[in-house]
Amino acid sequence: TPEGLRSLLLSRIRDVPDHPRPGVMFKDITPLLADPAAFNALIDALAGLCVRHGADKVVGLEARGFILAAPAAARAGLGFVPVRKAGKLPGQTLGQAYELEYGTAEIEVHQDAFSAGDRVLVIDDVLATGGTAQASLELIRRTGAEVAGVAVLLELGFLGGRARLAPSLAGAPLEAL
Ligand code: PRP
Repeated sequence: TPEGLRSLLLSRIRDVPDHPRPGVMFKDITPLLADPAAFNALIDALAGLCVRHGADKVVGLEARGFILAAPAAARAGLGFVPVRKAGKLPGQTLGQAYELEYGTAEIEVHQDAFSAGDRVLVIDDVLATGGTAQASLELIRRTGAEVAGVAVLLELGFLGGRARLAPSLAGAPLEAL
């Protein structure tokens, strides 16, 4: 059941206080990744979302998004596309800058990563402020592909990422397991 999956996943996420700074409660997913039953259930659920939302390709957001998106894409029978931090991809890229708490960051995707009209599902581990996911949706649209949705393991609702992402989703679903 969705409730059973939710409680299994939550039980394998560890709270680490004061990381990376005092006052921050870090949500550590490594116990979940190390538990084969929980990890497999998560990948199954993400692959199911790829199918349900009609994805043609799956994007993972560096770095922790890669750990979830690549196996989910393979299980759904789809190709995987990395969205990387600036300067890492070797080919022709499109870049998108976004705001961090202090300063800015930039992510990139290969210009030719998608075929025209591809429906792309974005997968990441955590939705916090939504800045990273929002930038990824802008990038995907600029390549000419379509957004099938965003799927994350964990949504930190108190940071308002869902509202920030809504305009870029333009009606596409945001799924938080
Ligand atoms: C974390 C997380 C998401 C993003 C969420 O990645 O994995 O990608 O931040 O934050 P936001 O919603 O406020 O944008 P991080 O930049 O720490 O990179 P990492 O996965 O390489 O550790």
